[in-house]
Amino acid sequence: MRVLSGIQPTGNLHLGNYLGAIRNWVRMQDEMDSESQCFFFLADMHSITVHETREQRLRNVREMAAALIAAGIDPDRSVLFNQARVPAHAELAWLLNGTARIGWLNRMTQFKDKAGKDREGKSVGLFVYPVLQAADVLLYQATHVPVGEDQKQHLELARDIAAKFNTDFGVDLFTIPDPIIPKETARIMSLRDGASKMSKSDPSDMSRINLTDDDDTIVQKIRKAKTDPEPLPETAAGLEDRAEAKNLVGIFASFTGGTPDSVCAQFVGQGFGAFKPALAEVLVEALRPIRTRFEALKDDEAALDAILIKGAEKAATAAEPTLRAAYGAVGLMR
Ligand code: TYM
Repeated sequence: MRVLSGIQPTGNLHLGNYLGAIRNWVRMQDEMDSESQCFFFLADMHSITVHETREQRLRNVREMAAALIAAGIDPDRSVLFNQARVPAHAELAWLLNGTARIGWLNRMTQFKDKAGKDREGKSVGLFVYPVLQAADVLLYQATHVPVGEDQKQHLELARDIAAKFNTDFGVDLFTIPDPIIPKETARIMSLRDGASKMSKSDPSDMSRINLTDDDDTIVQKIRKAKTDPEPLPETAAGLEDRAEAKNLVGIFASFTGGTPDSVCAQFVGQGFGAFKPALAEVLVEALRPIRTRFEALKDDEAALDAILIKGAEKAATAAEPTLRAAYGAVGLMR
């Protein structure tokens, strides 16, 4: 088993990232046997599609590394690194640009969402972003890629690119990766709008819980979260047309080891006046240890850089044979 996944180091790690992906990363790392390997990386090369100052970008990489370690990624057991330190990602992405089709990229919903009406004014990087993502995965022969629902289409593209490259060049080079998407928490929604996903790029910080938020901020964000006036139903089936309520119940269940049904049973007949303080308490208790570890790590630049440099060395070694074989298959090297 080769587990691999990445996160963009823009903004804070939020509850959507945590429940959709990072918690699975940690579980897979913790359950790994001696034959398996986990690779987790900061997709800083992808972040060029977002405007940031040089200083901000450098700070973001370290902070996201600290946040991942605080959330449970152990750099002694998993290879933790940032993409920019492993040039093989960019090199393989270029080779895969010869395989990926414009029509495939035109179908990517994330590009359409991010580009909006101004497609012509967007960077080429935003358009070919999924090819770099395919390179990230294929470079390590990843078998399992734990991600949230919004990355499913990008992984399907990676599978298509892998299959086409293997066929076009008559090789059996790339492993076809499987996405690992959690059942209940695949898509955590914004606290302000149950129709949009919780996201780093939402201009309102009230829309998300950051893993770095202090106790009071968490309580306040949950208190102000959008809900409806109805009491909680007997079972989760009664939440179907209540997106905000469904989201909060799902979050509660995911931190208490319950299911949306068991949470409904526990709070049946009660309104959000009773449910929200209970949810806030669960979140405060669950996130406090992560925040405390993050605070202790985040300013130790030397230690974080050392971890990322060591991780990048291991990643580069693991990537090397596949990159060479890809150059060889295309006929750019022997
Ligand atoms: P990114 O940085 O947007 O998100 C990191 C991970 O968090 C998940 N996620 C969510 N899950 C549930 N609910 C949400 N509201 C939510 N928001 C984010 C994402 O699905 C993701 O798993 N393109 C990727 C980074 C990437 C990558 C890769 C991932 C680059 N190369 C290779 C896997 C493999 C991204 O921008 O994720």
